[in-house]
Amino acid sequence: MNRTIPILAALLPFASKAEVCFIPDITANWFEAQEICQSWGANLVTIPNNSANNAVVECILASSTGGNNVMTNYWIGANDLARPGTLKWVSNGKIATFIPWGPGEPNNAGGSEHCVNIQPYPKDGGGHVWLWNDDGCYKKFKFICEQAVTCVQEP
Ligand SMILES: *[C@@H]1O[C@H](CO)[C@@H](O)[C@H](O)[C@H]1NC(C)=O
Repeated sequence: MNRTIPILAALLPFASKAEVCFIPDITANWFEAQEICQSWGANLVTIPNNSANNAVVECILASSTGGNNVMTNYWIGANDLARPGTLKWVSNGKIATFIPWGPGEPNNAGGSEHCVNIQPYPKDGGGHVWLWNDDGCYKKFKFICEQAVTCVQEP
């Protein structure tokens, strides 16, 4: 398996905690994706605020190796399976409050879209903005795992 492991906090040498993101070069449904992340001691990524969303986008863009197309959908660690309309994070069970839906989302198409992915939307004037979309949990997409690590500073 070809896995790409950019380290988000590489530019923060004094941070005591960092999040490491992994984007394996495979697709999986939301449940399989979370299992794969857990098998590495990680979870599907939690995105509590806009700076975390920006960091995730950096991680996505940094995962472009060998010319693979990064402009696609990626599962993140939120779903509303327990209570439709209320998004919770799989890593910590917290209710999501920062929710940057894409235009027209969430649409719960067919009444069966309960898992969340992040995808690029073209911006007026060029470039992209990465926003969230509700989608069918059994669809296969790439996905973003995140592991919290503690950095130890050598004396
Ligand atoms: C945003 O979330 C990250 C966790 O991903 C946290 O470390 C950071 O302090 C938060 N920033 C703000 C401004 O709340």
